[in-house]
Amino acid sequence: AAGSNKHSPLIGFEAINVSAADTVTLPKGYKHQVILPWGHPISGHQPAFDPLTNSGEDQAHQMGSHHDGMHFFPIEGKDPYQGSSEDGLLVMNHEYVEPRFMHASAQGQELSRSAVPVQADGKRSADEVLKEIHGHGVSIVRIKKQSNGEWAIEADARNRRVHGLTEMEISGPVRGTDFVKTKFSPEGTKTRGTLNNCAHGVTPWNTYLAAEENWAGYFINHSEQPREQTRYGVTKEGSGRYGWELADSGADEFVRYDVTPKGASATEDYRNEANAFGWMVEIDPFNPEVAPIKRTHLGRFAHEGVVFQPAVEGEPIVCYSGDDARFEYIYKYVSAQPYNKETAGGHLLDNGTLYVARFNEDGSGDWLPLVFGMGPLTPANGFNSQADVLVNTRLAADTVGATKMDRPEWGAVDPKTKDVYFTLTNNSRRTETDAANPRAENDWGQIIRWAEADGQVSAKSFAWDLFVLAGPESDSDFAGAGLDGGSIFNSPDGLWFDADSRLWIQTDMSESIVNTGKWEQFGNNMMLAADPVNKVIRRFLAGPIGQEITGVVTTPDQKTMFVNVQHPGATTSPEDFAKGSLVSHWPHDGALYPRSATLVITREDDGIIGA
Ligand code: FEO
Ligand code: CA
Ligand code: CA
Ligand code: CA
Repeated sequence: AAGSNKHSPLIGFEAINVSAADTVTLPKGYKHQVILPWGHPISGHQPAFDPLTNSGEDQAHQMGSHHDGMHFFPIEGKDPYQGSSEDGLLVMNHEYVEPRFMHASAQGQELSRSAVPVQADGKRSADEVLKEIHGHGVSIVRIKKQSNGEWAIEADARNRRVHGLTEMEISGPVRGTDFVKTKFSPEGTKTRGTLNNCAHGVTPWNTYLAAEENWAGYFINHSEQPREQTRYGVTKEGSGRYGWELADSGADEFVRYDVTPKGASATEDYRNEANAFGWMVEIDPFNPEVAPIKRTHLGRFAHEGVVFQPAVEGEPIVCYSGDDARFEYIYKYVSAQPYNKETAGGHLLDNGTLYVARFNEDGSGDWLPLVFGMGPLTPANGFNSQADVLVNTRLAADTVGATKMDRPEWGAVDPKTKDVYFTLTNNSRRTETDAANPRAENDWGQIIRWAEADGQVSAKSFAWDLFVLAGPESDSDFAGAGLDGGSIFNSPDGLWFDADSRLWIQTDMSESIVNTGKWEQFGNNMMLAADPVNKVIRRFLAGPIGQEITGVVTTPDQKTMFVNVQHPGATTSPEDFAKGSLVSHWPHDGALYPRSATLVITREDDGIIGA
């Protein structure tokens, strides 16, 4: 076995053991502080956190739940990677909510982590629904290092929430088309809210992108569904993911989740509401006056996140995004216009070419264009415009023959080599294998990587290999050997390169299997660091019980690292929840329930994280 014991000039800490404890474990010489837990007040009337009494309106001024992808924007507001390492806007996604931990009405009931309290009349309390909608989205918070070395919120007019009801613009080829005309926006130029924001992206012009991942299930259509719903999994029976359409106020902002056609036309009912979801959403953290913008040219699917190649003056902007579902695809976008530092902005994401990846068996790969009228993407095959191709991105990718992957999650670009790495988290349903997805019933996942042809990031072909096959010692492969005790992991999800080309890997063993059966040997979800040159992987962090580790970034000086802990305690059974017996109380702050929060990790000797 190999992996953790070799010398690495990049990785200086000693690997930690796996841990099943309800705590955060770090290597010797490291410490952490917990900040910004779910419900922490950040704006408006600064409502103090109390899960039993906070209202829906309060939640719009508090940290959202289920922290995920994030970025630290230095306070100067000029460059996303340069500037202050002690003062900045921390911007983070909130993927979803756990309603049983949010409402007084849930107490004492046998509720699973995904169940909602329903009233005797079959309806839901409108204020509880509002609280859940406001618990989703994005938080923008100014944080500052204090004289004692701890970090704290700094009052700032830019501190705010973007959530499931925030008004947004629709941009790119889908703007103004019939697909997005609604009662709310008859012109098809606006929508309300962003949902299920998993990972993120950081543009070269200092804005933030929030990905809309598992949005489809929030909507329900009881009638025959069009293909732009069926291919994504809009709910067909019962109620939507949280039953928001059942809110007892009957208000338009809740009823919209029932997209069953009921009126005479699309502008009289809610049939097109779901078409405004599944996009990447651009937010300018420094300008609260600018509405978030859904950038439709980056495609519509279960967007995990987006990662950019470093911008080069005079060259196109290039970014990559994964569609996290079994047998879905990896995409690349190349802007039509070249990057120019003076004029760069979101318009570069509105005009370009979206491609999807084909990983050939011989280690070569091709970027297949998803352009209306090109190849099979014609009316003869059911595609009638570029907007049609984008609203139905998955179908277009099926049609051109892309490679069906084992759940593409985060991507990361090595700043030194421009090589692109992507996590393929797992795929228990795979039966037929291929070179890029080589294991049937893939419980463990792998990390794939590629180099664009001739070092040109806008190239139409690439060369790929598998960086690591994750798993236990006996069923893993890292540079020709199995992983060892200091490096075993599975279900890679979060992925990030720091400025020194250290690759940080975060895991997401699902709540249904973590700490059981063959997954028990891995303990709780974790984060590891890899040296891609010297082929070393070492476990750096183990999280508390029931959570996943997701979201990582450092300050520009690399001496402070922020890491998110999402859904601690989610493995509590319905019976134990009813009894008030929870598997986790992390972060052990005296609150009634465990809650997602951000770790601030530093070294006792104030050195570079990981070195
Ligand atoms: Fe939200 Fe694909 O993890
Ligand atoms: Ca994820
Ligand atoms: Ca998860
Ligand atoms: Ca995941």
